[in-house]
Amino acid sequence: MVANNLALAFALLLFSISPPVRSLSLNYYDQTCPKAESTVTNVVQKAMMNDKTVPAALLRMQFHDCFIRGCDGSVLLNSTRKNQAEKDGPPNISLHAFYVIDVAKKQVEALCPGVVSCADILALAARDAVALSGGPTWEVPNGRKDGRISIANETSQLPAPTFNISQLQQSFSQRGLSMDDFVALSGGHTLGFAHCSSFQNRIHNFDTTQDIDPSMQQSFAANLRNTCPMHNKVNNAGANLDSTPTAFDNVYYKLLLQGKSLLTSDQALLTNIRTKALASKFASSQEEFYQAFVKSMIKMSSITGGQEVRLDCRVVN
Ligand code: HEM
Ligand SMILES: *[C@@H]1O[C@H](CO)[C@@H](O)[C@H](O)[C@H]1NC(C)=O
Ligand SMILES: *[C@@H]1O[C@H](CO)[C@@H](O)[C@H](O)[C@H]1NC(C)=O
Ligand SMILES: *[C@@H]1O[C@H](CO)[C@@H](O)[C@H](O)[C@H]1NC(C)=O
Ligand SMILES: *[C@@H]1O[C@H](CO)[C@@H](O)[C@H](O)[C@H]1NC(C)=O
Repeated sequence: MVANNLALAFALLLFSISPPVRSLSLNYYDQTCPKAESTVTNVVQKAMMNDKTVPAALLRMQFHDCFIRGCDGSVLLNSTRKNQAEKDGPPNISLHAFYVIDVAKKQVEALCPGVVSCADILALAARDAVALSGGPTWEVPNGRKDGRISIANETSQLPAPTFNISQLQQSFSQRGLSMDDFVALSGGHTLGFAHCSSFQNRIHNFDTTQDIDPSMQQSFAANLRNTCPMHNKVNNAGANLDSTPTAFDNVYYKLLLQGKSLLTSDQALLTNIRTKALASKFASSQEEFYQAFVKSMIKMSSITGGQEVRLDCRVVN
């Protein structure tokens, strides 16, 4: 009796603290939509030939989707007259390329109507974005469902670029992700671009005694201050997250060790013994980075939510 109650209490506790889990499976669409995956891959490939920023956009979109309400395509929903959606919430400046998901969805719907969720299409597109940028590839477990809720102010649940290591740890662990996942997934910053506003805290008025974050390499910081003056008038100004922003490689970690990372949250990797050791390992072995990244991406993209297969990724059924 006591044991039973204990077991029940434990189960309830587990249930209340772990993120919702729907079981996903490999080959999920083998019978119902065998061409789904290759269709998504072709669309991503075509889109990136016209716009080199597409892979970075898709990878970041997947991260934002999974960190809010699970990977349920909530990031894809449009605002409505009554509701401001996630994509119109504050840290949205670099979210773009939603049209790529629309094109893929349209083609997949033509093949197998009402079968493939927008959340799965996004997870596949993010995988393709990494692989087509020269990174690793992997099998994506599928079977996610799309959600019906997307609320602008819930983007405040995303980790901020100014977060320190304990805040980052908390943000990841709330979603069942470890510090090792945090180190590997931060490697997503091997692709893409950040606006000045995302790292201005490190290059202007850093603290009461110093203007510039002393952990930043000096000439690197000086260049960033040129690009991003204090009263920045150029709205789109910013810098690439690493020196090879369209190649999925381990250069991000190499530069990080040299004090050439943009965000406080990147620099935070070096403020803990364990995360620093792992970042150093990834800097010296691209292969180890790839293996860890794949493992952690599968973990992140398995945080599920949602209940339907949307027909249009921008509107609920
Ligand atoms: C650890 C917590 C994270 C923080 C605080 C963070 C923050 C940011 C910020 C502030 C930007 C620049 C936005 C802008 O100024 O336009 C950015 C860009 C980006 N992030 Fe993260 N991020 C985190 C984790 C991740 C993860 C887990 C991934 C994917 C695995 C990811 C992928 C990207 C990509 C690809 C870009 C470039 C987007 C583009 O160029 O369109 N980030 N991130
Ligand atoms: C969603 O919003 C975009 C951008 O505002 C707009 O172009 C598109 O037509 C909208 N789509 C739907 C289905 O509401
Ligand atoms: C970003 O969100 C703000 C509201 O915080 C909104 O006014 C703006 O239109 C959004 N920008 C984009 C590109 O969606
Ligand atoms: C977010 O907006 C909802 C209404 O749309 C409101 O009830 C809630 O208090 C807001 N939360 C925060 C943190 O601002
Ligand atoms: C991180 O920031 C939080 C909130 O500002 C603070 O309470 C905490 O002590 C900081 N942790 C570290 C390790 O700096």
